[in-house]
Amino acid sequence: MHSTRKTRVLTGITTTGTPHLGNYVGAIKPAIAASQDPDVQSFYFLADYHALIKCQDPKRVQQSRLEIAATWLALGLDTDNAIFYRQSDIIEIPELTWMLSCVCAKGLMNRAHAYKAAVAENEDAGSQDPDKGITMGLFGYPVLMAADILMFNANKVPVGRDQIQHIEMARDIAGRFNHLYKGQYFTLPEAVVDEKVDVLGGLDGRKMSKSYNNTIPLFVSDKKLLKLVRKIKTNSLEPGEPKDPQTCTLFQIYSAFASAPDVAAMREQYAQGVGWGEAKNQLFEYLNAHLEAPRERYNALMEDPAHIEAVLRQGAERAREEAAITMDKLRSAAGLGRFI
Ligand code: TRP
Repeated sequence: MHSTRKTRVLTGITTTGTPHLGNYVGAIKPAIAASQDPDVQSFYFLADYHALIKCQDPKRVQQSRLEIAATWLALGLDTDNAIFYRQSDIIEIPELTWMLSCVCAKGLMNRAHAYKAAVAENEDAGSQDPDKGITMGLFGYPVLMAADILMFNANKVPVGRDQIQHIEMARDIAGRFNHLYKGQYFTLPEAVVDEKVDVLGGLDGRKMSKSYNNTIPLFVSDKKLLKLVRKIKTNSLEPGEPKDPQTCTLFQIYSAFASAPDVAAMREQYAQGVGWGEAKNQLFEYLNAHLEAPRERYNALMEDPAHIEAVLRQGAERAREEAAITMDKLRSAAGLGRFI
């Protein structure tokens, strides 16, 4: 039925933090590039229902939604082309989540990494109740994610390694629904993990992640950016001593942004024993040159939430047009269709 349609690429961004360089390199940049492919219809959304699972601070969720939307727009996402929306604007998503919950084995959810990690933490802490503090939201998280994906029959879902299991669960749930209600209601999605994109290191050399508090936010002022770049951990080699680019966070971040000839030149400087202060200045200059224009657009967008609201509503409208049709079919399939 869909043989001539474009490949659908869909991904969600949980709205609990402020976008940082690691998000940009690992997810935002490749997603914006993918959305420019004429053979692709992309669906990108703010996974704000998912945010509620980990974060019950409304100010933070609200701020993060705005920041993430502004970031994607500032970096050039073309929203005439990509369908860009808030998960919570698609009222059909929780509906589908319920329908999928009713065909999803509880045992499948018992095996989800996030849930298992939470149980393990309780057990390690010697708690009587292995489910202590675990909400139904956390437990059912993969079903909500399956609804996000299956609603739009996504073919490819770009995600980090930690999310592969969730895509497999979405396939499982889709297959179960198709089988039970005897039809090809859902396309089976595939996870796409970009092997080329290394996880970016953070200030302390560990993976850049808001949970390690070691990030460089994308759109801090140039002053703050310089300060953060100076904080990146390096070893104690003196200027003049040759340095190893391979194990160096500074070099890694530089490589993620710089052109190939500039990366080669920096590699040569490492061999020549460039001082850390000098290497950091060069990284800062490169980052700042790269981020200056989008930072300006970002700041302007943050001052204009009405514009962001309008863009997201328009995205939701496009998404819901299709979601409504899909839900009609699914309701009928399950015996919840209209009487006439
Ligand atoms: N759970 C994903 C994450 O934390 C975000 C997400 C929600 C998502 N729904 C999705 C990703 C659907 C891909 C497809 O990264």
